[in-house]
Amino acid sequence: MSLLKNPIGAFLTLSFLALITNISAEVGKLVCFYDSKSFVREGPGQVSLAELEPALQFCNFLIYGYAGIDSESFKIKSLDPSVTYDRQHYRQITALRQKFPHVRFLLSVGGDRDLDGEGVADTVKYLSLLEQPDHRRSFKASVLDEVNKYGFDGIDLAWQFPKTRPKKQQGFLKRTWSSFRGLFGSKAIDEKAEEHKEQFATLVHELAVDLVRGGKLISLTMLPHVPAEVFIKLPNVLADVDFVNLGTYDFQTPERDPKVGDLPAPLQAMYDREPSHNVQYQVEYWLNQTSPSYAQKLNIGVTSYGRAWTMTRNSGITGYPPIPETDGAAPAGRQTGIPGILSWPETCDLLQQQPQAKDIPRLRKVGDPTKRFGIYAYRAADDKGENGLWIGYEDPTTAAIKAGYVQSQGLGGVAFHDLSMDDFRGQCAGEKYPILRSIKFRL
Ligand SMILES: *[C@@H]1O[C@H](CO)[C@@H](O)[C@H](O)[C@H]1NC(C)=O
Repeated sequence: MSLLKNPIGAFLTLSFLALITNISAEVGKLVCFYDSKSFVREGPGQVSLAELEPALQFCNFLIYGYAGIDSESFKIKSLDPSVTYDRQHYRQITALRQKFPHVRFLLSVGGDRDLDGEGVADTVKYLSLLEQPDHRRSFKASVLDEVNKYGFDGIDLAWQFPKTRPKKQQGFLKRTWSSFRGLFGSKAIDEKAEEHKEQFATLVHELAVDLVRGGKLISLTMLPHVPAEVFIKLPNVLADVDFVNLGTYDFQTPERDPKVGDLPAPLQAMYDREPSHNVQYQVEYWLNQTSPSYAQKLNIGVTSYGRAWTMTRNSGITGYPPIPETDGAAPAGRQTGIPGILSWPETCDLLQQQPQAKDIPRLRKVGDPTKRFGIYAYRAADDKGENGLWIGYEDPTTAAIKAGYVQSQGLGGVAFHDLSMDDFRGQCAGEKYPILRSIKFRL
């Protein structure tokens, strides 16, 4: 682009950029993630287009998750094995614009769904794309193509950077955390972290220039445990994107720490925990690195699902977190079928239902009068060491507390992960999408 040689063009581009930025930097944004896998799930977890629709009145953005990247050509690609089907689904989703003209539809890349041969999130490909200008060019061209061809309003980069490693949590004092943080510097996560940080900023800038010129949007989604201080060049990247969805959830999960159950997404710092594992710290970090006017570009991630561990006899009976000696992810729920994750209707069902066998006690729900850490429900293991369960989760009330925090801090809004894990049928209390609704009305 020859901005300098063409001052009028430059002026128009910049005004246009300002216009777009103003549109999307409104406060009270609700960014709804839509897991496209939910469309093809087997059984009662399947979300049809008709079931998706009632959510859209509440969403300002719908983010379609997820596309991937081809490891040879570095072009964006569909992650569905039957490609023709998936692209048809792209069109079905963006066609919802006719009924919901206020919604902007973005296609998201990565999201820990783009897996390598071993079935784990491929970070190597996402880094090597950054390293070569021709790989970046190929990616960029393919993104513009894809967005235009399937009627998306823009792209979301849920970039698969390497993550900080889980650390043992039990019995560590705060000062131990600080020495740990020194030990695991950026080099330990990625040898070439400094270069990748620069190159990612370049990619975002190049993409933003072309997308904005075409009237399209670009957002960044931080995946949980991707350290912004290592990979994100601030304030440059924040200046280039329309908004950022912070990875302020899944701080503690059964995958990262099978032996310790804990509140997955506390709003504020908890005693004797890794100091960065709460919403407030993450928000503060981004605010500290940028000018206050950018606060409106920051959305905090809030989930519709809970994280569940199996309690053992050694996990105690109080349920008070952190829970020691858990036995990994709790069995999958009946709708979503993912071990260690329970959707809101699944948790709600467990809370309401009398268990089938009458010697199994109900789950006990423990609220959070401080409104700072989150809620959980549990059932201690019985004498045989069975039926133990511990879930840290969000419900309509805790999600509204987080939306209230967004308001009080003057942030942009909430990134909701995701629609398919909310009660889309209204089976829990009769109302469809209760968590989504609750966030919307508090924003
Ligand atoms: C933000 O800046 C304040 C003031 O300099 C500092 O006390 C705080 O630790 C910083 N927070 C983060 C998360 O970087």
